[in-house]
Amino acid sequence: MLGFTVILALVGTVSAACTGSTCETCSFSSGCGWNGAQCVSSGLLNLNCGNAGWTCHDAYACPGTPPAYNESFARNQLWRLHAAQAQNVPTDIGFIGCMEAADASAVFLGRVQVTCGFPLPTDSCTTDVFALPASNAIVATTLGTAVNSTQLINALIALTIPLTTNGVIIYWDNANSLLWPGVETILSSAFAPSSPYAGYNLVLSGHSIGAAVAVLMAGEAAQASWLPSTAQVSSITFGEPRIGNYAFLDSNFAVAPNHLRIINQNDVITTLPLAGLGVFHTKYPVQYKNGMTSAFLGTQTICNTYEDSNCAANTLSGIPGLSPDYHNVYFGTPSYPTWRATNCSYAGI
Ligand SMILES: *[C@@H]1O[C@H](CO)[C@@H](O)[C@H](O)[C@H]1NC(C)=O
Ligand SMILES: *[C@@H]1O[C@H](CO)[C@@H](O)[C@H](O)[C@H]1NC(C)=O
Ligand SMILES: *[C@@H]1O[C@H](CO)[C@@H](O)[C@H](O)[C@H]1NC(C)=O
Repeated sequence: MLGFTVILALVGTVSAACTGSTCETCSFSSGCGWNGAQCVSSGLLNLNCGNAGWTCHDAYACPGTPPAYNESFARNQLWRLHAAQAQNVPTDIGFIGCMEAADASAVFLGRVQVTCGFPLPTDSCTTDVFALPASNAIVATTLGTAVNSTQLINALIALTIPLTTNGVIIYWDNANSLLWPGVETILSSAFAPSSPYAGYNLVLSGHSIGAAVAVLMAGEAAQASWLPSTAQVSSITFGEPRIGNYAFLDSNFAVAPNHLRIINQNDVITTLPLAGLGVFHTKYPVQYKNGMTSAFLGTQTICNTYEDSNCAANTLSGIPGLSPDYHNVYFGTPSYPTWRATNCSYAGI
């Protein structure tokens, strides 16, 4: 009888704290959840949280409205710039050819390359900045790790702990803090009142670890004093790993909400670090459940929160789920060097 009373009292305490008229204002931290209609106790041990339609734990998980997704821009401009940037020397023919395929009038504004990788063995991190007149956009692309997929997966598993004090995986934060000063110098000059690009919008893009860095850079850029008030900031990434805790995601989303992360079918990096370790994904996912060759263009599912069973890949047949190809090859292109030899042509892909 005493135990029963105590349980009732606990439930009562939790219920009393559940206030808020929207999912975002529901006080999740005190055992409350949004059940799709109102803010109510999620029950002892949060038993209701697994139910369909319930949003528990943090306002970041509340359904929202994803920004518009332009598949053509992601495929024809961003992915080509990523292939260009993977070239060691930004004047090589493959670099120029792929950049010009992205935009015949594109201008390369500069490259920032640093030694990154803390707290793991050192690696190379690179951001390139381009002006795309046809898209009215300045695009900063950040390259993934130089190591192979096996090393990358080990790194991602090892990296879950610790987070920085503001709740980001240390590796991402370190890469961003080393790259950003140089990137900011290029961007602040590109957006200066006297610049021909002063009226452009800003797009942060990245692949793999570069995707995580792009999320952090979007947060930096959105708050920068040099950014014209008319410039829209968006971030669009490929193969993005999980980023940080709810506190970080909330603060990043508050300043840079215009974010889409593209997922090629079963890309293993997008499942790391593993869920349940206190590190979460950004919203909003753009999932190509069956792959990204031209046969599947337009088949993407865009989900209205950061992670959702409806945004998982369809079951595969015959191809190992951990194959690095899903991660390295977006839009069905061959490996970067092979594709660059065609100047990033999509003919026959
Ligand atoms: C999408 O991007 C393409 C360039 O790839 C551009 O021509 C088109 O206008 C964009 N569409 C919208 C709706 O912005
Ligand atoms: C690729 O583009 C470069 C630079 O415009 C050009 O010199 C080269 O001939 C092109 N190669 C192919 C295969 O189209
Ligand atoms: C990845 O790199 C590690 C360490 O350099 C090496 O042992 C491994 O064979 C490489 N794997 C592949 C698939 O290249």
